[in-house]
Amino acid sequence: HTQLRGDQVVVVSNREPYIHDRDEDRIVIRRPASGLVTAVEPIMRACSGTWIAHGSGSADREVVDSGDRIAVPPGHHDYSLRRIWLSQEEERGYYYGFANEGMWPLCHVAHVRPIFRESDWEAYKAVNRRFADAVIAEARSDDPVVLVQDYHFALLPAMIREKLPQATILTFWHIPWPNPESFGICPWRREILQGLLGSTILGFHTRFHCKNFIETVDRFLEARIEHEHAIISHGDKETLVESYPISIEWPHPLESSGWPSISDCRRRIAELLGLAGETCLAVGVDRFDYTKGIVERLHAVERLLEKRPEWIGRFVFVQVASPTRSMLDEYRDFQGLVGRLVDRINARFGTLEYIPIRLLAAHHEHRELIELYRAANICVVTSLHDGMNLVCKEFVAARDDDQGVLVLSRFAGASREMREALIVNPYHVEETADALHQAATMSSEEQRERMSSLRHTVSEFNVFRWAGRMLSDAARLRLRTRVEARV
Ligand code: F6P
Repeated sequence: HTQLRGDQVVVVSNREPYIHDRDEDRIVIRRPASGLVTAVEPIMRACSGTWIAHGSGSADREVVDSGDRIAVPPGHHDYSLRRIWLSQEEERGYYYGFANEGMWPLCHVAHVRPIFRESDWEAYKAVNRRFADAVIAEARSDDPVVLVQDYHFALLPAMIREKLPQATILTFWHIPWPNPESFGICPWRREILQGLLGSTILGFHTRFHCKNFIETVDRFLEARIEHEHAIISHGDKETLVESYPISIEWPHPLESSGWPSISDCRRRIAELLGLAGETCLAVGVDRFDYTKGIVERLHAVERLLEKRPEWIGRFVFVQVASPTRSMLDEYRDFQGLVGRLVDRINARFGTLEYIPIRLLAAHHEHRELIELYRAANICVVTSLHDGMNLVCKEFVAARDDDQGVLVLSRFAGASREMREALIVNPYHVEETADALHQAATMSSEEQRERMSSLRHTVSEFNVFRWAGRMLSDAARLRLRTRVEARV
């Protein structure tokens, strides 16, 4: 993409790719549990440029220079991270409030009622304005390429467009887009749609979300829609609405050759959890979020033990749940609910030697997760609604032995590509319990067939394919804008 030099690329997201935290007298660097960061970070390492994000670590300020920036990844310095500092009030209104109590449940339609407060909306607008100012300050030319990430910044594209009309703005919405009826309850639906239509390209994970977005615009704005090419004209600007299924960085052979062997992983995890030799180990790895279907999968495990008692003592489910957004009641209540459910099921089926469910409610580093994925017989992803879900792709990438079974929700975008998984409706407890049994008894030959095919898909459609398609569409449209400007 000769048209897109790294120094012209600016990424904007709320979550930063590296968090510096103070741990007594040391500063530790954390990688956040975020699908967005997993996907966008390798792209920035490859193409350089500037990433603007909210500085959220307790030692973030200590390590930046006077321009509030830091060269990352630590020790490599491939690109520059510019941190934006938000006051507690801004964070409460914009991030916890409008983004995570309003937009998140609104777009996931996960039976949690969205909350729309006027004051959160004001904070959201103000913080979007602050990030727009930072983008404009970072732009090295009047036609930079700006990659806007996610539902925290719906207003940003139009704000940038106003100041930099020639900019190529690629906005990627990492979560689902609901149907017009669901979206229509948002009091500021028109402003949000107008904000997003400042983008040159607006990307979603699936065609289905693109279609929902186009129908929402059709319902609430005066716009011309070219359905065949998925182009929306609003005012004097055109936006291409396209699906770009996000993915992961496929592990380099040098990296995977350094992983502990499958049997070592299995031994270590078995020791850690006190598992008996023949135990079937199923794992779930999620942010501790109500959209991930954690309660539903626990019910499925309970149902499995109930209807097939031969698994009692031989089936263990480990749930890694990385605490998230714990400031919000909804999240705290949910964490409490899950804890109580785990205790109840363990009390019902457990013994002194056997604990059917282990809840590990803490952040885990990538290498610990790799070990867990490699030790597991089954990985369970039962999101009630998920833009894509990258855990299932990480699991498959970790299984270079072609073994292990993926149980995957039909409501995760990933189910469109990962057809060889056992696809379930997580709301249907019986079906999910049966899928767990099928996974636990699947022959090694069938596991190999399914897993090798899944690995082929994910390695082929990796995150560079995702970014490559978006950036080449951007380069094409940017060239067109330049040519048209000359006429
Ligand atoms: O992809 C959805 C998303 O909300 C990202 O925007 C975000 O970084 C990630 O999940 C984790 O959430 P949070 O940044 O709120 O911890």
